[in-house]
Amino acid sequence: MSSPAQRAGELRRELEHHNKLYYEQDAPEISDAEYDELLNELRAIETDNPDLVTPDSPTQRVGAAPLERFEPVRHLQRMTSLANARNEDELRAWEQRIRNLLAKERDTVELEYVTEPKIDGLAISLVYENGRLVRGATRGDGEVGEDVTQNLRTIDDVPKRVEGAPALLEVRGEVYMPRSAFARLNEARAAAGEPTFANPRNSAAGSIRQLDPALAASRPLSIWAYGIGALEGLSFTTHMETLEWLRERGFPISPNIEVHQDIEAVVAACRAWEERRDSLDFETDGAVVKVNDIQTMRDLGIVGREPRGAIAWKFAPMTATTTLRRVMWNVGRTGHMVPFADLEPVAVSGVTVKLATLHNEEDLKRKDVRDGDEVIVMRAGDVIPQVVSPTPQAQKNKKRSPTPQPPEKCPACGTPTVKPEDGVWTICPNRAGCPGQIFQHVKHFVSRGAMDIDGLGEERASQLLRAGLIKDVADIFELTKENLVELEGFGDLSAQALLDSIERSRQETPFFRVLYALGINGIGYVNARNIAAQLRSMDALLDATPEQIVETPGIGPVLADTIVETLEEDRERELIARLRAHGLKMEQEGPAPGTEGPLAGKTFVITGTLPNLSREQATEAIEGAGGKVTNSVSKKTDYLVVGADPGGSKYNKAQEIGTEQIDEDQLNELLAGAAV
Ligand code: IVH
Repeated sequence: MSSPAQRAGELRRELEHHNKLYYEQDAPEISDAEYDELLNELRAIETDNPDLVTPDSPTQRVGAAPLERFEPVRHLQRMTSLANARNEDELRAWEQRIRNLLAKERDTVELEYVTEPKIDGLAISLVYENGRLVRGATRGDGEVGEDVTQNLRTIDDVPKRVEGAPALLEVRGEVYMPRSAFARLNEARAAAGEPTFANPRNSAAGSIRQLDPALAASRPLSIWAYGIGALEGLSFTTHMETLEWLRERGFPISPNIEVHQDIEAVVAACRAWEERRDSLDFETDGAVVKVNDIQTMRDLGIVGREPRGAIAWKFAPMTATTTLRRVMWNVGRTGHMVPFADLEPVAVSGVTVKLATLHNEEDLKRKDVRDGDEVIVMRAGDVIPQVVSPTPQAQKNKKRSPTPQPPEKCPACGTPTVKPEDGVWTICPNRAGCPGQIFQHVKHFVSRGAMDIDGLGEERASQLLRAGLIKDVADIFELTKENLVELEGFGDLSAQALLDSIERSRQETPFFRVLYALGINGIGYVNARNIAAQLRSMDALLDATPEQIVETPGIGPVLADTIVETLEEDRERELIARLRAHGLKMEQEGPAPGTEGPLAGKTFVITGTLPNLSREQATEAIEGAGGKVTNSVSKKTDYLVVGADPGGSKYNKAQEIGTEQIDEDQLNELLAGAAV
């Protein structure tokens, strides 16, 4: 047995190591829950042996020292952290503690609480002098952070000027990457042969730490503001009032932030946040409860690095530890070998997980997971479970299996695999005949963002392939009722319903989605949209040089080369010709957004839920008439289209600068007028 002093030393070294990985390299090796476990063990030792506490103990500091490469900045006010409550009882105990403390000083203790999401991103501070953004910094160790002003300026959602701001204003918030944007970014990086990011948090942190602001600007980052630090020339009574004020000044504030009068309502609100978790477009790892009254918050003070008047309720971990039986392989849409993990079944936040993705060869290598390892598994939203890393113990194991290698033969068709000289991934070269690749391609082709063929899910697609009724995606448009009714599970009605949805898809799917449906490396949803807007037709794209494709926003030279190479292949040209013969749209209809047409030059922002049109439909209609749709209200915005439950920041900003507000009916009038 080691002595408490020895163990404390060990724990500190280990925590420092993980701090470095997390804060400086954005490459954590252990889950947050495991980190907390180490930190809690150290805390427990220090509580029992107060003489062992050192000023530089990780329990006394937040994060790690800033990197050398950015200028260090001393925060005007220390950036604190939050204590954690792991369950309802700990939350109630916290409230009891602060009540008792306050009762010593006050006759009556009446408390209000605010509940908000704990966003899993990167903490930042934004300093405004006389309403102008003068500095943005990361948290660093809480006292000194890194000056990342240039990079923060590239984020649209960060106000650069604040109307009616006091002499000094420091806004605190969390920079994050929306989940949807993260998925698209990784897709594009993978297609360009660049390493993918492990999760949205790491990619947000990695983006903010880019020395080149142009690179940071190309990353889809956003921000949620959650409070104010230093402030001169203005004061607030409550936290909620602070948030409202920020919202009115154009700072994005999370919706659903509420004030509660008693702790049971707080518990219910925290649970509601947990239930909402999967449906949010940003990652959360908990809910934050703050005392609403600012003076009370001050009176309660700070212990160590945590204010007493706030606490984070941690959600059930999305991670769990289990044994990786072995790494298995599948073939992806474009022929690359896709590793996945066969796991000892384990419950991860209420769901049993047996299989988890390892994304691709390069991801597997980076994570260094091997057969038989104890691994950390994570579920994030509706994303497929993934293997995060081996546990630290597994990494130390001397008798580990060798690094798994991609198979020599394609698991779907048996063709010997190859590793192209310039590529990072091993592929199955049998692109035209490999049933695995065809299945993945069909799955993508019929999916919602692509051809959106209702009633042709994974199982039916696989059934049609097995029956030999389709050999590639073009065959879908040659299916007949006679063929279909022969199949198990199909009757007259269901066969007709499927044919109807195929017909609808054929007639209605716009060109950019047809382009996306082709599943070409590098043409994800957003790129397809932009290419269609830029080049206008399949013919123009087929004739385009990489130099012309690079003109498209968001497409770099590597990606442009890949796209041109793929489109030069006979196989691809033949498929496109067949799809064209079946009448799929090969041209962008309507003018390019914002260029020509009756709504040309008009910029719209949409907020809230419209009664009849979805966001996508409204956007398409506006763009179809030549208008442009953007995400945030500025002086350049001509109309704010307002639906039910509008987002506060857009709405308030529009109020403030006097943007014209219209509802769905008025939008329809504009569109109809435009059509005349
Ligand atoms: S308040 C008063 N509110 O969590 C304490 N923090 O563990 C200061 N975070 O470094 C933090 N969402 O970056 C606060 N709604 C929220 C938050 C939040 C995420 C982060 C923050 C901080 C860490 C504390």
